[in-house]
Amino acid sequence: MPIRLTRRSLLAGLGAVGAALPLGLRAGGIELVAQPVAARILDRPTEGMRSYGPGLAPVLRLKQGEPAAIRFTNRMEEATTVHWHGLRVPHAMDGVAWVSQLPLGQGESFDYAFTPPDAGTFWYHPHCNTFDQLQRGLNGIVIVEEAEPPAFDADLPVLLRDFRLGPDGQFLHLSVARNAARAGTLGAVMTANWQVDPALPVPAGGLVRLRLVNSDVTRVHRLFLPGAQGVVLALDGHPLERPADLPVSAETALALAPGQRVDLGLLGADLAVMTDTKGGARRLMRLVAAGSGMRRGLEEMPRLAPNPLPVPDLDQAERLDFLFGWSPAGEAKGGSSLCGETGQRFWSINRIASGPDGPDPGAPLATLTRGRSYVLTFRNETQNDHPIHLHGLAFRLLRSDRRALVPHWTDTALLLAGETVEVALVADNPGDWVLHCHVIEHQKTGLSGFLRVT
Ligand code: C2O
Ligand code: CU
Ligand code: CU
Repeated sequence: MPIRLTRRSLLAGLGAVGAALPLGLRAGGIELVAQPVAARILDRPTEGMRSYGPGLAPVLRLKQGEPAAIRFTNRMEEATTVHWHGLRVPHAMDGVAWVSQLPLGQGESFDYAFTPPDAGTFWYHPHCNTFDQLQRGLNGIVIVEEAEPPAFDADLPVLLRDFRLGPDGQFLHLSVARNAARAGTLGAVMTANWQVDPALPVPAGGLVRLRLVNSDVTRVHRLFLPGAQGVVLALDGHPLERPADLPVSAETALALAPGQRVDLGLLGADLAVMTDTKGGARRLMRLVAAGSGMRRGLEEMPRLAPNPLPVPDLDQAERLDFLFGWSPAGEAKGGSSLCGETGQRFWSINRIASGPDGPDPGAPLATLTRGRSYVLTFRNETQNDHPIHLHGLAFRLLRSDRRALVPHWTDTALLLAGETVEVALVADNPGDWVLHCHVIEHQKTGLSGFLRVT
């Protein structure tokens, strides 16, 4: 049964949560303001950018297992919300317009309050006008620090993003329909923390935790660090059970799709972070060794403690199939334009293209029983890659029919063209959880739906 959100039904439905919200901002609370900015990406200020601060969005640092309070205010003309990508939060805090809250208009505020159960590297971004606002820079990194902090000598969070700018430093047409129906529209200027090929200092010979976040709307990065010494510590926020080999060549590059994150443990040195593209390898940024040399050894690299995730019971698990494919409908009629509706439909899940962006999110793709285990089969019948992201629940990658996968916990699974991947989860968080492609043009043109956990 589709749920219609009105301000009254929302307040009634969320009464219990509403009452628990902080009245004033708690001590140690965070103020976040979405606003128009003019930042300098190339040699001239780029007009029409958006951020959660006067420049690059602040890196928010929360603490695992401790309540966080974030007062958000929208100082932009267009509506928005804030979604905490990868954080397992209560449904009312998930920040999805028309699904968990109403869009926030100009001047409106919302108090986000939750206690993050998992430590790691996550990010925050709008879930209303997602395509336009992300393209214009509105997103940031949120780090949940471990209850017992591991002993690194440096912690370096880096937001990766291609801005779609012309040589004059101004935005080009953000979306091209024929691209939206294929791989998505690529940006033109690669940046790391809003800088083109920056040089970031790291302690020479020290233990460096490099957190890379792919906030791009389209590009699947293929990352490698020639000559680097270190390990892959975590993927998509969650520590690997066994640290993996660092990618040091284009042949062994690590695919990091839109929405995904990787934590690398490196020995501080002069290094380049490269991404392999169709046109050859490109440098995203440099690390520059600073200081007199700490002479740490790889064997001193801290191990990250596992997050408290519910382990699916694979023997008892119910199976659910999802097909990501072409859309039978070319367009979506009606809907609200408050959160950016293109009207076009190129993609679908189980042959259903998501409905118009607006107050009626339609029916769930599936209804899951709280506490039960599920194996989800994700089948990509298309010629394009789709990073499939699920809100509210972490899931475990089990296997692919195309390649050897290292099983690990994630919130975003990259499906290569024609690939089928199986994942497993325990449906332990009640709510309507959005399942969508994180190539945002795909999400906005049909490749979106939601799972209901009762
Ligand atoms: Cu990164 Cu539905 O979001
Ligand atoms: Cu998300
Ligand atoms: Cu996609």
